[in-house]
Amino acid sequence: MNKKLLHTVLFAWFRKHGRILPWRMRELSALHKAKKISKTKVSVLRDSTIASYFTTKWNRDPYTIIVSELMLQQTQVDRVLPKFESFIRKWPTVHDLSKAKLSEVLIEWKGLGYNRRAKFLHEMAHAVVHTHKGNFPKTEEELRKLSGVGEYTARAVLTFAYGKDIGVVDTNIRRIFSRVMFGKEAGQVDISTKEFFAVIDQSVPRGKGDPWNQALMDFGALVCTAKAPKCDVCPLQTVCIANLSEQKHGFRNYADSLATKNKKINIKKSGAKKIPFKQADRYFRGKVIDILRDGHQHMEKLYQQVERDHKLRDKKRWGNIIESLMIDGLIAIRGSTVSLA
Ligand code: ADE
Repeated sequence: MNKKLLHTVLFAWFRKHGRILPWRMRELSALHKAKKISKTKVSVLRDSTIASYFTTKWNRDPYTIIVSELMLQQTQVDRVLPKFESFIRKWPTVHDLSKAKLSEVLIEWKGLGYNRRAKFLHEMAHAVVHTHKGNFPKTEEELRKLSGVGEYTARAVLTFAYGKDIGVVDTNIRRIFSRVMFGKEAGQVDISTKEFFAVIDQSVPRGKGDPWNQALMDFGALVCTAKAPKCDVCPLQTVCIANLSEQKHGFRNYADSLATKNKKINIKKSGAKKIPFKQADRYFRGKVIDILRDGHQHMEKLYQQVERDHKLRDKKRWGNIIESLMIDGLIAIRGSTVSLA
């Protein structure tokens, strides 16, 4: 595929439709101000903000990038927005977070789920302040040694904070490349992960890694979505291999062909049993942490509350849930009292 065309088309789309998200701002105050001013001014601010991604050497704070990326790992953007803003208001720097107690971070995490991420952030802040003298590592290898930072998050820091020209390979971006370049769904592409990463890295326009990855993320979230891509309005519809090949097979576009396939898969799946979320260990773990956010509890009373309110009627399973929370370092037990760690 012609890389220049890809860049021109996606950047034009991004300038018009890109999202203004607080972790992309240099200063969060600009966003707060934007909420209080008229719609026209918001749109001017939006245009100038996106334009600035192309012209400014951002050097965003790696701390805010890691906080946002960890929050976004398992949680939708809309739910992350208010939590990110209040988290950063409470602990504006990695030094502030390193001084917080883990229990405070767990309390602040309420509503985001997957509470281990709060512990990872707390550990990350300690390591940066105490091992790295307050300076975030600058290489992928060193970043990945930080708690909660895997390949994806390390790459997000390198490009969003340091402006490096590398790909941020999340599920959205994998999906876009799989469809547009290979005509397939992610996971069905016939090349190794290493080769796939190389294709994604090579697509990054020189000096524009930051806006390029942001543009792809927004494009994946708003147009090239997982279940119902908006091929009708997609600016890549005439070059996307998936779209072109399904049109050759008689479909109006790739979205129509995908809908037909998904219908068949759903019919097959409806026969298979799936554990409802409210019966999963993760659900009960979350409820225990929710209760302890309000203060410590007697172990037996805690069990009775979870049994009564959330219908966990299995003492052996209860034991495993408490043990797993202990192993993850999220709770502490002293005598018969349980509290957040
Ligand atoms: N999902 C994961 N990371 C994101 C980001 N930085 N912006 C928007 N959505 C995301």
